[in-house]
Amino acid sequence: MAITRSKNEQIAALTGGGDAPGLNAVIRGLTTKAISLGYDVLGIRDGWRGLLDDGENAPLDLDEVEDIHMTGGTVLHTSRTNPYKVEGGVKQVKKNLVRLNCKYLVAIGGEDTLGVAAKLYKDGVNAVGVPKTIDNDLSETDYTFGFDTAITRAAEAIRNLHTTADSHHRVIVVEVMGRHAGWMTLEAGIAGGAHAILLPEEEFDIDELCTIVENREKKGKHYTIIATSEGAMPKGGELKFKDTKLDAFGHKILGGTAEQLAKKLEEMTGKECRYVILGHLQRAGSPTAFDINLGTRLGIHAAEMIDKGEFGMMAALHGTKIVSIPLEKAVGKLKTVPKYRIEEAKLFYEV
Ligand code: F6P
Repeated sequence: MAITRSKNEQIAALTGGGDAPGLNAVIRGLTTKAISLGYDVLGIRDGWRGLLDDGENAPLDLDEVEDIHMTGGTVLHTSRTNPYKVEGGVKQVKKNLVRLNCKYLVAIGGEDTLGVAAKLYKDGVNAVGVPKTIDNDLSETDYTFGFDTAITRAAEAIRNLHTTADSHHRVIVVEVMGRHAGWMTLEAGIAGGAHAILLPEEEFDIDELCTIVENREKKGKHYTIIATSEGAMPKGGELKFKDTKLDAFGHKILGGTAEQLAKKLEEMTGKECRYVILGHLQRAGSPTAFDINLGTRLGIHAAEMIDKGEFGMMAALHGTKIVSIPLEKAVGKLKTVPKYRIEEAKLFYEV
């Protein structure tokens, strides 16, 4: 690979928040492009924590990143540490960037990680962002990498559940991740042939779910698959989440929706109900080709943004192009499922 010029300048790269398949493709794309432009890259360990402590941060070279794009997880490891919630945290991050001789910072993460990057930029750090989340809930980018892998896994699981549900004449409720956005449940639910899809964007009606189950019974279809988001809620009621703890960014740890719904449906329909929580299986393992390619392109673009001095910006997918948009715009508002997409799914309900 031809190095155009040696700048003797270093870029710090970190991955924060939940891991997403495709992170290693970003790291490889970024490192390869940055080295070709004459920069050095320092891999920061464990997200923002690596800039707070004297972490095991280490330089990334071409050998190190060769072939990592095909693997899941993040070679840099991750955490949900928020430097703005740690006393003196921001000062420490800035001090460590200077100590580590890093003039630039690439933060690869979701709303939380990018929110920190946006604030650090305002506080004088030459930061750029790369959007990542299996939830696909980041504004200003059409898709985030990790999402395609997660829905591929979830769709396969939902599809496979048909045979066991059918054999036992059961209702199976499948819980899908995604926090307060229902993208994963919607797209995996449609692809996996779920008979009802429950999203955080619209409260669901338990009576309507019973009707779906009963109508299928009348047609001789003695089983029903319901895909529910971990953050879905019933009309006028509340489901209790398993955990009441909050993480460093103030998020509730969700989970428990499918279990409660399955219990309720068994009571109301008299049918045997089971539930499955897909959980971290959705983001574990190797990325799909789509996520590898998207991650690679975003990583390359991030290196170009540094080279052009586009700080305070994020690489984003607009149609088929990778563009730079202000970080602040991306983290201001969650991208949730619009009503017309929910209506499309309902077209297939047997109500
Ligand atoms: O934001 C990604 C995500 O996988 C959500 O879909 C889920 O609610 C959350 O992370 C789980 O977080 P953790 O890995 O901390 O359990």
